[in-house]
Amino acid sequence: CGIVGYIGQQDCKEILLRGLEKLEYRGYDSAGIAVLNGEGTYVFKEKGRIAELREGVDANVSASIGIGHTRWATHGAPSKENAHPHQSASKRFTLVHNGVIENYLQVKREYLQNVELKSETDTEVIVQTIEQFVNKGLSVEEAFRQTLSLLKGSYAIALLDENNRDVIYVAKNKSPLLVGLGGDFNVVASDAMAMLQVTNQFVELMDKEIVIVTRDQVTIKNLNGDVIERAPYTAELDASDIEKGTYPHYMLKEIDEQPLVIRKIIQKYQDEHDQLKIDQEIVQAVHEADRIYIIACGTSYHAGLVGKQLIEKWAKVPTEVHVASEFSYNMPLLSNNPLFIFISQSGETADSRAVLVQVKELGHKALTITNVPGSTLSREADYTLLLHAGPEIAVASTKAYTAQIAVLAILAAVAAETKGIKLDFNLLQELAIISNAMETLCGQKDEMEQIARDYLLTARNCFFIGRAVDYYVCLEGALKLKEISYIQAEGFAGGELKHGTIALIENGTPVIALSTQEHVNLSIRGNVKEVVARGAYPCVISMKGLEEDDDRFILPKVHEDLTPLVAVIPMQLIAYYAALHRGCDVDKPRNLAKSVTVE
Ligand code: G6P
Repeated sequence: CGIVGYIGQQDCKEILLRGLEKLEYRGYDSAGIAVLNGEGTYVFKEKGRIAELREGVDANVSASIGIGHTRWATHGAPSKENAHPHQSASKRFTLVHNGVIENYLQVKREYLQNVELKSETDTEVIVQTIEQFVNKGLSVEEAFRQTLSLLKGSYAIALLDENNRDVIYVAKNKSPLLVGLGGDFNVVASDAMAMLQVTNQFVELMDKEIVIVTRDQVTIKNLNGDVIERAPYTAELDASDIEKGTYPHYMLKEIDEQPLVIRKIIQKYQDEHDQLKIDQEIVQAVHEADRIYIIACGTSYHAGLVGKQLIEKWAKVPTEVHVASEFSYNMPLLSNNPLFIFISQSGETADSRAVLVQVKELGHKALTITNVPGSTLSREADYTLLLHAGPEIAVASTKAYTAQIAVLAILAAVAAETKGIKLDFNLLQELAIISNAMETLCGQKDEMEQIARDYLLTARNCFFIGRAVDYYVCLEGALKLKEISYIQAEGFAGGELKHGTIALIENGTPVIALSTQEHVNLSIRGNVKEVVARGAYPCVISMKGLEEDDDRFILPKVHEDLTPLVAVIPMQLIAYYAALHRGCDVDKPRNLAKSVTVE
């Protein structure tokens, strides 16, 4: 979910709506805004997208203070009732919330026995409890503070009080939230992107802080009520980075940006002598670690699998990769001196953050690899490596995946060097070759579109098979396809299919096989024969030098350890065209959100 708020001189409806549009990547099953003027509080909310909300907002209502929310449902189905903002019984208080209150049923039982709730959300419990405390005689600020002290879980909150048009009350715990500063106005947003339209000056907030935002002042207080001074920073994002320009979809734009991103990474991670460069203290941390634990979710997890391979093969450090949501509840026996690497495009994923908090408590060192400087995972880790990929807006991750692999490769190569292991290639040169190969692939969209048409227009399911590192790329290819086209897709280790899943192969079932690794080329081709014998419709994507006559697509040759960087591009494009021609919403697939800030 994402939240916004504005308090200033202008009518704020449009600022809030535009802010929400920029946050739509965080969730888009319902949305709402509340604005406050001399006549009272006006709440507009809709199930569905911001575009639908916009239609429902009364253009005649004008107000210079307001809050807004776009939702990714957790408690309660997506519906108008469950959409934010939520109001207290008397309608005096109106609130938006991002996060999950774990003990809301208990708070409801203890404090709201006599209040009839209108929604099924944990959020309504917060606003109703605030009103109960105010009814008992507390000031609004005290009631807010008191309520927050009861809550267990995560929240970013903005609260309006109908009796006071000069303040937005704000609080944060574990969910991201920033305050933006203007000359005669101030704003609140889950992400700076939402408010770049009006300011590039932002103040970070820390967990458990409360902020009193007025037109000309921002007062941050800690749990004890002490005022905290904190200087603003300038958001370096350029508003044009977050527009899609002439592209029909962000996803296509972001796929096309990959060659440039790799060049940017080469530039950022090389010194004046054209040597790889990474902060000495990070190199040292890798050097001292007896084992690396990579923690991530979704596409970032898939990049981590490739990273593991590189770190083990080049730097010879044993490395494990774990899905964050499992790791926190099922922690393996750790080595004596572990280093944790968190991979997260957004730097905000709650599942990954939960693990970071745990490992910090255990006293271990953590490195975050992220696209977003200043994000929670970056701030809370000991070290950060940035992806430099520019904002990724499409929900299905593309350029962040390749950037993550490139940065992991650089880390692995530097770590190898530090250990005195000589690699027999120059990584920067190999990455430059890859950047060119990516450009070639991005120029071959027609061929990918044709594959999507031939194999996937009516397909019910699709299998991606590969061996060794190709298997990891297949996991990502399958994820891309399911995320945006809703075709049931599975990535499988070529040799494992016959141990069960091959039962699903029917006449015409598409099987996309990837072969970029010489040592398994023959065996994956054997697996292709096995599925063809059972009726599958095969689409072999192979690397130049390994190709055979019937292969459907040949990838340009790149270094054998780095093939995922190019092999994933046809998969991204095939998924894109499959979704497009099946009439799916490519950039905002159903049920998903780009940045999942709840566990
Ligand atoms: C969400 C997105 C995925 C993404 C995952 C991890 O589920 O829909 O595309 O891979 O989160 O996100 P992160 O920002 O931590 O890389």
